[in-house]
Amino acid sequence: MSIFLLLVILLSEEIGLVNFSFLVGAQANERRVVAHVTGDIIIGALFSVHHQPPADKVHERKCGVIREQYGIQRVEAMLHTLDRINSDPKILPNITLGCEIRDSCWHSAVALEQSIEFIRDSLVSSEEEEGLVRCTDSATTPVRVKKPIVGVIGPGSSSVAIQVQNLLQLFNIPQIAYSATSMDLSDKTLYKYFMRVVPSDAQQARAMVDIVKRYNWTYVSAIHTEGKLYKNQDILDIV
Ligand SMILES: *[C@@H]1O[C@H](CO)[C@@H](O)[C@H](O)[C@H]1NC(C)=O
Ligand SMILES: *[C@@H]1O[C@H](CO)[C@@H](O)[C@H](O)[C@H]1NC(C)=O
Repeated sequence: MSIFLLLVILLSEEIGLVNFSFLVGAQANERRVVAHVTGDIIIGALFSVHHQPPADKVHERKCGVIREQYGIQRVEAMLHTLDRINSDPKILPNITLGCEIRDSCWHSAVALEQSIEFIRDSLVSSEEEEGLVRCTDSATTPVRVKKPIVGVIGPGSSSVAIQVQNLLQLFNIPQIAYSATSMDLSDKTLYKYFMRVVPSDAQQARAMVDIVKRYNWTYVSAIHTEGKLYKNQDILDIV
């Protein structure tokens, strides 16, 4: 957690003029850091900044240790990409992209909890537009409502992406995953608001068969994983 906090502070200095903020929300049983960049259009993102909860901490959704490559680097990549797009006058002129990055911890329960936060913000904003939100105390200044997200990027794991999609599609929020390769997600009747930027496992299998044929291999061993991750085995992250 502390490394990530430090990173967020460093990034906020680097970004300078961009209104960049982070907040530590006391949600559920664990405090999760949320990175928020203001803009005209807000894109939600779920990255696995921490490992999934260890077996004895699953019930309290307490995540594991920091993941640098699969978490922090992806957060940085997203912030960098937004900076590049926003500073280029040819891409989206006069529109500033913002984002809200949340931690999925490579775990369905945490990812769903964070997706609920995305949805809640969307619902509150639409109620505000319809004038349904009123201040109970006229003396207090009205709370500035966050802009709703236009879509969600991530999460990384197929099984977690399926859970998140089941929730997001109820609220018509599009989802684009960057590394979920499960063939199940190709079913548009089940996962209506899901898209991905990587080919499904079916394509990978076809490519593997082509390689086997091309080199006339007569014997191939296949090792299967259930998609579960244990400890720090980043190598199994190819889902
Ligand atoms: C962007 O804003 C500037 C200044 O308001 C305006 O001159 C320009 O036409 C706008 N560009 C687009 C693509 O809307
Ligand atoms: C595979 O087998 C075919 C047919 O026997 C042969 O023409 C080809 O050169 C072989 N390829 C390799 C990489 O050995």
